[in-house]
Amino acid sequence: MLKKTVYTALNEQVKHEFYSAYLYLSMAAYFETENLPGFASWMQKQFTEEQEHAMKIYEYIHDRGGHVELGAIDKPQSEFSSALEIFEISLEHEKKVTALIHDIYTVAAKEDDLATQVFLQWFITEQVEEEKTFTEVKELLEKAGSDLNGLYRIDAKLGKRED
Ligand code: FEO
Repeated sequence: MLKKTVYTALNEQVKHEFYSAYLYLSMAAYFETENLPGFASWMQKQFTEEQEHAMKIYEYIHDRGGHVELGAIDKPQSEFSSALEIFEISLEHEKKVTALIHDIYTVAAKEDDLATQVFLQWFITEQVEEEKTFTEVKELLEKAGSDLNGLYRIDAKLGKRED
């Protein structure tokens, strides 16, 4: 059975992961309207990945005898000015998620909950990957600057994302 503090932190994280999914779907919608299909497809895959993160925690809570209580998901930002702005916002968002995961780990460590600490190691590693990926795309966009051909090259590259 999960301690209440650990349960509450994990249950909140389910919501944060679904919010991430929602935010990335909102960004995918922006790219759809901007006729950037590679970016749109990349963001839709990110939307799917975030739901998988949420469901991993959902299943873990139930495996430990808890019951997930879903909270309200905030409305995500829907107006953006550029692809670069989107990747700046996303990177800052991922850094916040990293901090949230680290906070849950600290709670689990204080409660001597070894199983949750082991469970969270996957997320800690995943966040390193997430921040690296978003940083790479942001840097590509910075290099492209106002060069539209550069933007379309990045769009083609992102369209090849497999999962
Ligand atoms: Fe669920 Fe993008 O981290």
